[in-house]
Amino acid sequence: MNILLIGAGGREHALAWKLAQSPTLTKLYSAPGNPGIAEEAELVTLDLADHAAVRGFCQDKDIGLVVVGPEAPLVDGLGDSLRAAGLAVFGPDKAPAQLEGSKGFTKDLCERAGIPTAGYVRTSSLEQATEALGRFTPPYVLKADGLAAGKGVVIAETRDEAEAALADMFGGQFGEAGAEVVIEEFMAGEEASFFALTDGTTVIPFGTAQDHKRVGDGDTGPNTGGMGAYSPAPVLTKELQRQVMREIVEPTVATLRAEGMPYVGVLYAGLMLTSEGPKLIEYNARFGDPECQVLMKRLDEDLAALLLACAEGRLAEFGEAKMLPETALTVVMAAKGYPGTPEKGGSIELGSAEAEGAKVFHAGTAMQDGRLVATGGRVLNVTAMAPSVTEAQRKAYAAVDAITFPSGFCRRDIGWREVERKRG
Ligand code: AMP
Ligand code: GLY
Repeated sequence: MNILLIGAGGREHALAWKLAQSPTLTKLYSAPGNPGIAEEAELVTLDLADHAAVRGFCQDKDIGLVVVGPEAPLVDGLGDSLRAAGLAVFGPDKAPAQLEGSKGFTKDLCERAGIPTAGYVRTSSLEQATEALGRFTPPYVLKADGLAAGKGVVIAETRDEAEAALADMFGGQFGEAGAEVVIEEFMAGEEASFFALTDGTTVIPFGTAQDHKRVGDGDTGPNTGGMGAYSPAPVLTKELQRQVMREIVEPTVATLRAEGMPYVGVLYAGLMLTSEGPKLIEYNARFGDPECQVLMKRLDEDLAALLLACAEGRLAEFGEAKMLPETALTVVMAAKGYPGTPEKGGSIELGSAEAEGAKVFHAGTAMQDGRLVATGGRVLNVTAMAPSVTEAQRKAYAAVDAITFPSGFCRRDIGWREVERKRG
């Protein structure tokens, strides 16, 4: 089978690397891809907003499965357009992709299905939002409704800060994404991520992970897309995972299906482990980045066959997705300045980073005159696996230290929660 993989980041490099190991793969194409993905796939240039062009490409190249990495094309309805032409697509249609595309949509769905999550109010004007603040106590959680590249959430300590943030949001700080704002109750607890694959009817767990959102060591500094992750997240015990499936993921899939918008793809549930049990913070309609990198490292299945089974409604054939029991850990190397204004064009030499079994996934890289350079933001994901989190961390940083990337930086404490727990 030929596969088209859409996307260009570290998540997609990890998917490409795993798809390339699938016995059922004939040829992998990637649009637009990156220099790491180019080692596994033929890169093609496609205008993803031009659905007819993508469809035409799939028909020309006899594509048996389209795997959509990022959320934007899904929220834009690329899945609908390709499915309408009879193509097999891994990734939801536009309507169910609202799970990620609209925070209000997800909150309403949780309410209809009785899914545990923070109490909330949807507001569509500054007056309405300011008035609604009175129904909450600090800290105030304010969310732009639409896609805002992970930046649309403000946690305000005081009422003044909250009012200022609301004024910015309704003033156009996040463009259209902020035309509506969801105000939520603050939930205290530890965060963890839970993944599940579904064909719209059958749902199977697909591993757990913990991300590190702040840019600096010790979880300090501004939020980023994620500076590193590890899997599994033992804080999500088997029992908690069963509870998450039963109380959160299964009712979500069943409700979407019953309401005529079956969800096909991966559900990425961001959870808060509160004293009252796990509660949903948010859904993403795609794999996490960099969580995908650690999941792919652990996955012990033919990924192409598994994703095709989702796309074709045959997921029941897979009772489970087997993962290796080891811990995988990935360290993000970013360009200095990230998440503000990252330096572009810095040179990278990977050296012997992969010599001891670590895998370096490319995120923001390009080839310039035969040299590998950073294109900004998150640049490399250095990923290692070992029987313990402590050993996985040591291996990943040994590989990081073998890389020469003077304009880059990384956190030095990825995995700290679990390493500390292990230390006891
Ligand atoms: P989101 O984009 O919805 O995942 O929110 C980004 C981050 O804000 C989450 O990873 C949490 O750290 C935090 N957050 C979001 N909603 C809440 C909430 N209701 N209570 C506490 N923290 C939250
Ligand atoms: N690492 C967080 C995300 O992919 O949204």
